[in-house]
Amino acid sequence: MPTNIDDIIRTRRSTRAFTKQAVDLQIVREILQTASFAPSGTNTQPWKVYVVSGNKRDEICNAVSDAVRAVQGGNLEKKSSYTEVFPYYPVEWISPYIDRRRQNGWELYGLLGIQKGDKEKMHAQHLRNYQFFDAPIGMFFTVNKIMGIGARMDIAMLMQNIMLSAHARGLATCAQAAWNAYHSIVLPLLGASDDELLLSAMALGYKDKDAIVNTLKPPRAPVEEFSVWLS
Ligand SMILES: Cc1cc2nc3c(=O)[nH]c(=O)nc-3n(C[C@H](O)[C@H](O)[C@H](O)COP(=O)(O)O)c2cc1C
Repeated sequence: MPTNIDDIIRTRRSTRAFTKQAVDLQIVREILQTASFAPSGTNTQPWKVYVVSGNKRDEICNAVSDAVRAVQGGNLEKKSSYTEVFPYYPVEWISPYIDRRRQNGWELYGLLGIQKGDKEKMHAQHLRNYQFFDAPIGMFFTVNKIMGIGARMDIAMLMQNIMLSAHARGLATCAQAAWNAYHSIVLPLLGASDDELLLSAMALGYKDKDAIVNTLKPPRAPVEEFSVWLS
């Protein structure tokens, strides 16, 4: 397990296959308490985190998986009712983002032996999101709609802290925006109020070390590509 902060950051990876090993909820509590030391604008701490396990986790996974299957099966009415409230991605892509996105997709599908155009297998892999890739713990992050865009930055920092703190404890995670389109199913099942907006979900559990999907290591651009140095 890495202990140096640079190693923790560099070796955290999105995990898309988990073992069934249960996670001690006390550890999850510690992770959340540590993660809450994330900075936030004027210390507003605008995050709300739902931790789901056991029957509640299964209930949400099953309800959303049913909806996703209906959408995948071509139910256009259903498709139009499941939309993201805030757009995570652009409507029209530009380089270099589209290139990186495509490369990521091809590498993921390549590892899984999914050929281009094999809709059935692509759908099956996408569906795995809605079982938290078998992780025993799911988390949902919401923000009060009254808050500005800045609060979403704060919550992203909390999420990164959770991912790093979990990794340092030998746990694995995958942030999941895939759930956002299904907020109309998820939020009532969580008992969330109307003023909450779903920002992301996250799977948490122990990594399946034998799963090929977990060997994916998306590269990063060198510093020169994303920084401008002025003096
Ligand atoms: C906010 C957020 C949402 C994400 N949503 C998903 C998702 O729905 N499904 C998924 O498989 N990966 C998701 N990812 C993981 C990214 O694909 C991953 O971070 C990226 O490919 C880089 O890989 P790495 O995390 O292993 O370094 C998400 C990441 C972030 C930060």
